[in-house]
Amino acid sequence: MAQPDPSGGLPGYAEHFEEPAGYLDFARYGPPSRDVLAATAEALGRSARAGRDTVDELMRADERARAAAARLAGTDAAHTVLLPNASTGLFHAAFGIPSGTVLVPAADFPANHYPWRRSAALGRAVPRWLRADARGLITPDAVRAALTDDVVALAVSAVDFRTGARADLAGLREVIGEDRLLVVDGIQGFGAADLPWPAADVLVTGGQKWLRASWSTGFAALSDRALERLEPTLTGWTGVTDVAVFDDTEHPVAPGAGRWSITNLSPVAAAAFAAALELVEAATVPAIEAHIALRVDQLIDTVRARGGEILSPTDPDRRAGIVSFHLPGTDPADVAKALHAHDVTPSVRAPTVRLSAHASTPHSAVERVDAALKSLR
Ligand SMILES: Cc1ncc(COP(=O)(O)O)c(C=O)c1O
Repeated sequence: MAQPDPSGGLPGYAEHFEEPAGYLDFARYGPPSRDVLAATAEALGRSARAGRDTVDELMRADERARAAAARLAGTDAAHTVLLPNASTGLFHAAFGIPSGTVLVPAADFPANHYPWRRSAALGRAVPRWLRADARGLITPDAVRAALTDDVVALAVSAVDFRTGARADLAGLREVIGEDRLLVVDGIQGFGAADLPWPAADVLVTGGQKWLRASWSTGFAALSDRALERLEPTLTGWTGVTDVAVFDDTEHPVAPGAGRWSITNLSPVAAAAFAAALELVEAATVPAIEAHIALRVDQLIDTVRARGGEILSPTDPDRRAGIVSFHLPGTDPADVAKALHAHDVTPSVRAPTVRLSAHASTPHSAVERVDAALKSLR
């Protein structure tokens, strides 16, 4: 395993990227690797010169991406389906549950709210909103206290988009038991945090953040329980058996996770996604996670030394790549202005400023943050 480099990015990984040193907004968008750029150009280029076999050949990227996603998620390709984003997966999950109550964090990213609002409006599963603790966490104890007989599922983010707090997926699984579904939005952690993904019945993620695959990429991994329980309400023509047989009849849904397909994805996006996932596998998630933990530690120390208050968990076992803070007495817009002046890219989510580091983040990013905060004194 490659060791975190004290001043640069993670060796063997960082060289694949070209974002500016002060880019600290991976929780919003993870600039893709050169490999992703090359795979996209190659696939699109081939499509521009398409011959008889080109489309079929390009479509094979789906298998490659699915296999890599499955390996990283701790499952197999039959339980994995490519999706264009995390939200599509959350809609499949929400519309698949025929009835009952689903526990959902009230302060979660809205991508995990609207599908449940829509399912409720259709007379299907109804959300019950859970309050998080001060760190943005839904703890197993909080879930235990909210469990009633009508609860059929829990839908949470693996890593909170505001604070970076990691959910205790294994603990949540244990508390809800084997009879309820655990739906997990992994987008703020997958590929960057080594979490027990097989605890989830439904794991969804988009590839545009920590996986650095750019937009229109993502996947879902479904457990056997999910395949058994979720109704295929959104299954499209590519989610059935004998897809290529156009016989004007309704075909049975595909036996595996492929039933979550509404139509073909872009094979160009699939090629990009495969390249991104394979790079994560080559670098290894534990090594990526270790480098991120180092930079996050340094960012926390720096922000604190300049009078900032950290809202993220400071214990490395409870956080991922996000550092949220505020500077008492200073408008977050002014903090952002100072960071921009030092070529740092943050997210401003008033009242906090959010920094997020990846395994390509060099130490100079921390130095830029330090200089920016110093300039506010
Ligand atoms: C926790 C979380 N879930 C979902 C999304 C949206 O994902 P997608 O655009 O892939 O649906 C975001 C951010 O954009 C997010 O932070």
